[in-house]
Amino acid sequence: MNSTVTEASVSFIAEVVLKRSGLILSADKGYLVESRINPVARKEGFASIEALVAAMRARPDEKLMWAVTDALTTNETFFFRDKTPFDQFRDEVLPALKGRSTLRVWCAACSTGQEPYSLAMLMEEVKGTYPGMKLDICASDISERVLEKAQAGLYSKFEVQRGLPITHLVKYFEPAEDAFRVKPALRQSIRWRPFNLLDDPRVLGRFDVVFCRNVLIYFDPPTKQKVLERIASVTAPDGFLFLGAAETVMGVTDAFKAIPAKRGLYGRDAGVRKAA
Ligand SMILES: C[S@@+](CC[C@H](N)C(=O)[O-])C[C@H]1O[C@@H](n2cnc3c(N)ncnc32)[C@H](O)[C@@H]1O
Repeated sequence: MNSTVTEASVSFIAEVVLKRSGLILSADKGYLVESRINPVARKEGFASIEALVAAMRARPDEKLMWAVTDALTTNETFFFRDKTPFDQFRDEVLPALKGRSTLRVWCAACSTGQEPYSLAMLMEEVKGTYPGMKLDICASDISERVLEKAQAGLYSKFEVQRGLPITHLVKYFEPAEDAFRVKPALRQSIRWRPFNLLDDPRVLGRFDVVFCRNVLIYFDPPTKQKVLERIASVTAPDGFLFLGAAETVMGVTDAFKAIPAKRGLYGRDAGVRKAA
């Protein structure tokens, strides 16, 4: 298969992806387009990326456009990623929201599921401190491919070695097909939903806590603002937001405020007061 890709094709593909997902693909990402889109072209029966682009230009085929978009999402994740947000969830957020009968958490770009499963395991560990509080996790992603894997809860040896304490592996997973599967009770405690952050999240419900980590970095400033304000519109007035280590609301929106000395943790007004 011919693997060279012209700048014009990279720009065309970048436009397709931007329009559907908000993800910015800069012009220097030719190598990424090549490595990710070659398999899509092959699978769809095209001789090259150029042939695939020519077909998309000639006849817009949404299924193909979405396959291209999905292939260019970055799905890197691992269990208890960055540790601090999970410590803050346990030590700041749960005490601040104590008294809720149901704690509604949204993992807004959950990729292959390690983040929502980490939260579900954490909650299992501390549930004795919060009798009567039920955790309701909604986990969503734009990519149905990653959601399928998340829902199956099947992780390779390599994946379970990334961030998962051995005690949790023993307690919450069972060996399966030369890999490990999350036990059914934990798997079934999570609602999995395909959801594009460019859309209105009110269809998902309302939430006390939102994890939206390591996805805003790929959006331009107006998209970041719009997404954050929409997230605020479904977050309780005393609710919280977790962003990735390289992300912030500062200079983007006032809908959430930084919680002093708690990097990566943001609150709506009453949430900031409760955590202070
Ligand atoms: C790098 S992963 C982050 C996973 C997890 N939150 C973490 O921090 O480990 C980013 C995820 O965002 C998803 N994504 C990208 N654009 C999106 C959009 N417009 N709406 C929803 N999810 C999106 C990707 O499919 C990908 O799985």
